Amino acid sequence: MAGPASSSRTSLHDWQALSDHAHATRQLTLRDLFAADHVRAERLSFEACGLFVDHSKQRITEGTLPMLVRLAEACGLRERIAAMFAGDRINTTEHRSVLHVALRTPRSERILVDGVDVVPGVHEVLERMASFCDRVRGGQWLGHTGRRIRAIVNIGIGGSDLGPVMASTALRHYSDRDLTFRFVSNVDGTDFAEAVQGLDPAETLFIVASKTFTTQETLANARTARAWALAALGDEQAVARHFVAVSTNASEVAAFGIDTANMFGFWDWVGGRYSMDSAIGLSTMLAIGPERFSELLAGFHEMDEHFRTADFEQNLPVLQGLLAVWNTTFLGAHTIAVLPYDQYLARFPAYLQQLTMESNGKRVTLAGRFIDDYETCPVYWGEPGTNGQHSFYQLIHQGTRLIPCDFIGFVRSLNPAGRHHDLLMANCFAQAEALAFGKTEAEVRADGVPESLVPHKTFPGNRPSTTILAERLTPRLLGSLVALYEHAVFTQGAIWDVNPFDQWGVELGKVLANRIVPELEAEAEPEMTHHDHSTALLIRRYRRGRRKSD
Ligand code: F6P
Repeated sequence: MAGPASSSRTSLHDWQALSDHAHATRQLTLRDLFAADHVRAERLSFEACGLFVDHSKQRITEGTLPMLVRLAEACGLRERIAAMFAGDRINTTEHRSVLHVALRTPRSERILVDGVDVVPGVHEVLERMASFCDRVRGGQWLGHTGRRIRAIVNIGIGGSDLGPVMASTALRHYSDRDLTFRFVSNVDGTDFAEAVQGLDPAETLFIVASKTFTTQETLANARTARAWALAALGDEQAVARHFVAVSTNASEVAAFGIDTANMFGFWDWVGGRYSMDSAIGLSTMLAIGPERFSELLAGFHEMDEHFRTADFEQNLPVLQGLLAVWNTTFLGAHTIAVLPYDQYLARFPAYLQQLTMESNGKRVTLAGRFIDDYETCPVYWGEPGTNGQHSFYQLIHQGTRLIPCDFIGFVRSLNPAGRHHDLLMANCFAQAEALAFGKTEAEVRADGVPESLVPHKTFPGNRPSTTILAERLTPRLLGSLVALYEHAVFTQGAIWDVNPFDQWGVELGKVLANRIVPELEAEAEPEMTHHDHSTALLIRRYRRGRRKSD
């Protein structure tokens, strides 16, 4: 089909120009680029919302960012941002607005969806959450037997787990240490069994977090949790004191047996992976308290405003998103490593995996055209920095693949201990330096290295990275950092022309699993002609093994 809606991004003049530019500059090295420009680091560093972002070690010339910005304009990024903030139904395949930004909009502002201002509803839920959290934290919300709640178990998966887990780890410094937090996501019974190890049902509160309240894994875990609690507490009435739900689906919550008076709602315009600051963040608020949760929201909002209003040339999420496009689509990188130099951010890469890959892991444009002429979302992965150095950094430094890295570090530690923080940050800066500039054969020889080892000890350099440096990891800073990536993902989606807000790719596996469950559980050998030979063989072997061990 012809026409602008179905034409490829590759036919844009600005796309072609970038493609040519990538080709023309492929021989340039970061050594050359830094040698030619003594203010490069200042020129390519940007600052907003408490984040100092140094892009100077990216493989870009003076012309690259302006060209990427022109591409963003040509792809309609500006209009898409306006449409998102205006509450337009930009999630076209699900016919939904995309308004996670409303979750952190101050009470004084208005955001209309179908003529209705959604901001008062957001604050109403926040107030209910705050009052609940104050009662639990203050010991007024008691368990069924009159004991104080001492453990919170969040049951959820995907966006109903990864954000809360990440925030619980990231903000542990600020959390109430008298409360224990556990998270159950996997349908593997081990996850539940280990999460409740050592917990007393009389002092445990379960949060069943599920946007849809139909997710197999979460409901299975929630049923097991109810059985675990009732086995000890012995009374159905106990459910009301030990279970609360977070969901958009009140009827399924009620059907499960949780009183909707104990439900905290949100809305279909909040995507699961964009929901950590909705009621899905209840465990976060329980941990850090309502006031610090407000600071988290303020950090998100500050970045939202920056994204909405700043010039693209200075706009942190726009630049971050465009550079990911540059590295993957134009320079051919397949992955991006996210490397926090802060133990509290240990789960940040895992959180980003869903945010980035469930959003932009797509091969069909908004208009339904198959994308066969450029690459979209890279694989995001990572681990806290120094641990990674003793594991996979070898490949980043000397492997055959190009792996752009995001380094994240802080000026101040939340746990100052002797020289630890200087050692940590020295490693962070050193890795980015080594990746960018490497070590030439001549430099290796000058160290007196035997000739046979010279190739092994040479570092090619020219490996791109961005370093994000902030003062201290605070709730507010975390909000800004997460929003930076959220909007970078949005920016990428606009360039790749995909819908970052649906996730049809998770459906087929769910349907097939639901078909296989009864085949594993049936007494009689099931008819399996509808399966391929491999799947049928595996099912038969599993059934045989189960029969033997039962
Ligand atoms: O299967 C993917 C997914 O739909 C995610 O997008 C979502 O975050 C997760 O499942 C959990 O969904 P829910 O919150 O509805 O249980």
